[in-house]
Amino acid sequence: MKHESISGRVAAPLGDIAMQDAATKPAYLQIDGLWKAFGEFVALRNISLSIREGEFVCFLGPSGCGKTTLLRAIAGLDLQSRGTIHQAGKDISTLPPSQRDYGIVFQSYALFPNLTIEKNIAFGLENTKRPRAEIDNRVKELLALVGLSSQAKKYPAQLSGGQQQRIALARAIAISPGLLLLDEPLSALDAKVRVHLRHEIKELQRKLGVTTIMVTHDQEEALSMADRIVVMNHGVIDQVGTPTEIYRHPKTLFVADFIGETNQFPVRIAGRSKVALDATDLACAPHDLPEGSEATAVIRPVDIIPHGNSTSESIGTPENLIDVKVEKMEFLGAFWRCRLSSARFGGRILIADFSINAVRRLGIEIGGAMQVELPSERVLVFPGNS
Ligand SMILES: Nc1ncnc2c1ncn2[C@@H]1O[C@H](COP(=O)(O)OP(=O)(O)OP(=O)(O)O)[C@@H](O)[C@H]1O
Ligand SMILES: [Mg+2]
Repeated sequence: MKHESISGRVAAPLGDIAMQDAATKPAYLQIDGLWKAFGEFVALRNISLSIREGEFVCFLGPSGCGKTTLLRAIAGLDLQSRGTIHQAGKDISTLPPSQRDYGIVFQSYALFPNLTIEKNIAFGLENTKRPRAEIDNRVKELLALVGLSSQAKKYPAQLSGGQQQRIALARAIAISPGLLLLDEPLSALDAKVRVHLRHEIKELQRKLGVTTIMVTHDQEEALSMADRIVVMNHGVIDQVGTPTEIYRHPKTLFVADFIGETNQFPVRIAGRSKVALDATDLACAPHDLPEGSEATAVIRPVDIIPHGNSTSESIGTPENLIDVKVEKMEFLGAFWRCRLSSARFGGRILIADFSINAVRRLGIEIGGAMQVELPSERVLVFPGNS
């Protein structure tokens, strides 16, 4: 589907109702049974994925898991070994890149160094044989959209990294593509610019409503920008879900570990909502693992609740109240990261993040004894332990 102008596109509404609505719509991009091998090495294994129109999807995973390979297959830059890709109902599986409907931005800005900023943006438009005046207007519109109207006559080398990446973005959306593909567009930028541009890209995407796929290995970037995250691991998709689903209900230990911080400890399954940790029981979130099997329990540092050194509070699962000693405290600006040791945990260290307020209110200090609660619904278990 081609879009006549930026203003002609309506942003997809967000929220659960919109998600439900969208769930009934046919997929805009449909990937089925995609495999990619480089010689003997299998980079993508049986990838199937549906992306709805107007969605902002992030491919997230560690280096080498196949994110770029999947993006390049969608772009037609590297053909898949097997499987199909449909865009807007059309089979694009074997089309060359020039016949596909997308704009792309790479990690390196990849602007033409010998062309001015406005010529860089106009590049794709020139091929569309539009009248000169229309191209000029469109370039002006795009420069304004990315907030760089005053830079039109400069060359790429005269702009900062963040500005160059905005120009690359303007160039990618110039012809109003149906699909915007971004491969780590922010990773070459310094932290502050990166966070700023995150918001800008997200805003722009909402405004245009263009279906967008962004590759990143930065979980914070994915959590803050994506409508849905595709977590990849060794060429397969481990989980697809909204940022909160992925964070709160990771399907695998890999996803739990990759997204956010975790404490992990070996346990034995002692019931549907119970695990045995050494000699004692701990209540956990309900699971389907067989009783007696070995498992790994996971709790995030932010989910550990401090109760001070003599708790009078009663909780539903008193076995999840644990005596600890504060071994170390590290001030991380927004919170304190504390290393806690506990006889209950066989001397293992628990990492807990406590707010500045809680530390002050409860008088938490290095060497002090206190109780912490591991809320049972936040104790997740996964099969196996190492
Ligand atoms: N042209 C190629 N020839 C051979 N192997 C390749 C080729 N391109 C990628 N690979 C391999 O396929 C795997 C996936 O690579 P890919 O570039 O998709 O990873 P990625 O998830 O994008 O990683 P990163 O975060 O480092 O960019 C890697 O093991 C890589 O070495
Ligand atoms: Mg990559």
